[in-house]
Amino acid sequence: MRLFVAICLTDEMKDSISETICDLRDAARRGRYTRRENLHLTLVFIGETDRVEDILDVMEDAAEEAFEKPFSLALSGAGAFRGRGGDLHWVGVENTPELHRLAKALRAGLSGAGFEIEKRRFTPHITIGREVVISSEAEIRTPQASMTVDRISLMRSDRVHGEVVYSEIASVQ
Ligand code: 2AM
Repeated sequence: MRLFVAICLTDEMKDSISETICDLRDAARRGRYTRRENLHLTLVFIGETDRVEDILDVMEDAAEEAFEKPFSLALSGAGAFRGRGGDLHWVGVENTPELHRLAKALRAGLSGAGFEIEKRRFTPHITIGREVVISSEAEIRTPQASMTVDRISLMRSDRVHGEVVYSEIASVQ
């Protein structure tokens, strides 16, 4: 299974991000956009593995530390990474000390358990479009929303009839 740990977003936050995706579609000549149900914030990407129980142990430890009190997650800006075949568009998330600590605990715990975790710095973002080529000056609204985080989810990524489908296989509070 191809797995990652994420924060699932509230409907309100997805609504706000969906408006931005709508604007992006209108302004673009082409692109592949994240489907509403796939919007999430990745905390750590794990990759191919069947060691679900070991991952859940690490998630339990990280959650125990992080969720002494539920914390707030807020969107923060939007941007794009340039690419040859089009740009990757993202919505930013405020990297608060609580979020940073949670991602760090997960990464350290998973590395300690023998998983190969990318060493890249954690830059919290929600991908909204890939290979996007903008062709008009139309305004793309920046989403604004916040939510309370009290759990983390173990997500599975599958390709079904050519489409990426993410499903929550477990969550830890
Ligand atoms: P992305 O949106 O920036 O591509 C599922 O693929 C999730 O894991 C996505 O949110 C993706 O982030 C993230 N991810 C991080 N590293 C990845 C990797 N090496 N391969 C695939 N997805 C990765």
